[in-house]
Amino acid sequence: MIQYIKPVKVQTGTIVTPPDKSISHRSAMFAAISDEKSLIHNYSPAADPQSTLSCLKQLGVKIEVNGTGVQIYGAGRDGLRIPEMPLDCGNSGTTMRLLGGIVGGAGIRCELIGDASLSARTMKRIIDPLNKLGCRIKGKNGDYAPLHVSPHDGLNGMRYPLPIASAQLKSAVLLAGLFSDEPVEVIEHVLSRDHTERLLNLKSENFGNGKIISSSSSHVIPSQNYTVPGDFSAAAFWLVSGTIHQNASLLLKHTGINPSRIAALRILEEMGASIHVENSKMEGKEPVADLRVESAELSSIDLDPAFIPNCIDELPVLMVAMCFAEGTSKITGAEELRHKETDRLSAMAEILTLAGASVELEKDGITIHGKRNFKPKAALFPSYHDHRMAMAAAILATKSLKKSEILDAECTAISYPDFWSHLDQISS
Ligand code: S3P
Repeated sequence: MIQYIKPVKVQTGTIVTPPDKSISHRSAMFAAISDEKSLIHNYSPAADPQSTLSCLKQLGVKIEVNGTGVQIYGAGRDGLRIPEMPLDCGNSGTTMRLLGGIVGGAGIRCELIGDASLSARTMKRIIDPLNKLGCRIKGKNGDYAPLHVSPHDGLNGMRYPLPIASAQLKSAVLLAGLFSDEPVEVIEHVLSRDHTERLLNLKSENFGNGKIISSSSSHVIPSQNYTVPGDFSAAAFWLVSGTIHQNASLLLKHTGINPSRIAALRILEEMGASIHVENSKMEGKEPVADLRVESAELSSIDLDPAFIPNCIDELPVLMVAMCFAEGTSKITGAEELRHKETDRLSAMAEILTLAGASVELEKDGITIHGKRNFKPKAALFPSYHDHRMAMAAAILATKSLKKSEILDAECTAISYPDFWSHLDQISS
């Protein structure tokens, strides 16, 4: 599908931020291995979290869906069944990596498969530590999906310092740890999103500047009864859009503001954005709020690499903001972007260049020479079949003086099925 993007003059209105992808995946997986029944409200209808639900059903978990309400009858740690068909994780890295930890830990004979993009993403980062724990997982060429999981002879304990700041890796090890009689500890020096620890009530203590988080088979897996907060990573597109458009005022309701996710908010504020956090409250274990954003003049920023794990999914749209920020902005220490649904560093450099921005691509980042009055050239933008590339290109294109096109625009359904209608609803 080609999506046409018309120039936008005014952007106003209210958007209810769509349900969080990371929390949706986790709520379903954790409910599935709990001993109790869970009722999850506002479960994401996006393709990735739906892949998680269908994999869990194949593992024998009873799930009833009623709109965005999902009732899950926990099968318990020992209740998962050997699936008859490969578990299709689609485009979802979180499904493959977290579920890999669960089926690997439970020793369920199965195969995890994914689409072309997921099959090209490294899985060695989870295969190696999980096998060290005693799991039996084999990847294609030792690294890629399909992953073949076999029963194991028991898991050992482990103290594992994370070699990369990745919540998916951290979660995979901790989830497998739930099947080990010995303590499994993960040492995290750079803190990544902490939904797994929060939603499972895992024990964590400070360790130097980081944390040590532990799990084991004696940990009680809680039921998951709450409303999934809105996805800050989806809201980030509107935070940037509302900032760079001159006549803009947007209210983003019910947005998750977990501190491990919102570095982009702080970064935009440091660049000069006007964002107000209103009506903060807790939704289960997670904080939510309404975010109000208004037009603002931005200045460039030299991003502190320490922020990267807490804005990894927002970096593409932050690069769009940097094109409109006066001066030279720099992102470094973001090599992980090359391992996402596509190589997001190269893809964004191409998208920004197509629009006429002045950028230099580096091995682990990008330099962007921005101007407040930057007028992007209208173009035919590739999406690389990557939802966040399509949405970032769209926000950029709304600032052009002529109509642009986004190729394979249906990929936004991976995380945000209503993105195009929301863009239409707030733009004139
Ligand atoms: C996610 C973690 C991040 C993020 C992804 C979702 C999660 O990946 O990019 O979209 O839900 O744990 P990494 O753990 O690979 O950084």
